[in-house]
Amino acid sequence: MDVVRQLLLVLHIVGIGSLLGGFLTQVKGFKTGDVRIVPAMTHGALTMLVTGVALVGVRQGALDLPVDNTKIGVKLAILVGILLMVWTNRAKDRVDVRIFGAIGLLTVANIAIAVMWT
Ligand code: HEM
Repeated sequence: MDVVRQLLLVLHIVGIGSLLGGFLTQVKGFKTGDVRIVPAMTHGALTMLVTGVALVGVRQGALDLPVDNTKIGVKLAILVGILLMVWTNRAKDRVDVRIFGAIGLLTVANIAIAVMWT
């Protein structure tokens, strides 16, 4: 069962790549306000949610490994915020740069929380 956890973690990291990578492709448009939500961001954010919840389930349910509920709760709350911003703005040609910047900052914040919160 540990291989399932490992594969989910690989997909979790692919999700980060997709969300953050999609964001980074738009950074050049910050000055002119020409930024939009690319599909990689929507798919990445959804992948983070599905794999994150599955990781918690596999760790707690099947493997009896510890889960830091406070840390996961904070990561989940941040991701829900990201998902709301990504989903409601996904069809727009131009997105408010403050909203777009917040998506990138919160994604990096979640990476820092995942790695540094011990
Ligand atoms: C943008 C959102 C997210 C980012 C950037 C992110 C990032 C990461 C990173 C870098 C890791 C590997 C380092 C570590 O093991 O701590 C990780 C692991 C993990 N994440 Fe996330 N995460 C996000 C959202 C979530 C959500 C919403 C959940 C659960 C509802 C979640 C659950 C987990 C779990 C359980 C692990 C540990 C996996 C293991 O080693 O067995 N993550 N996350």
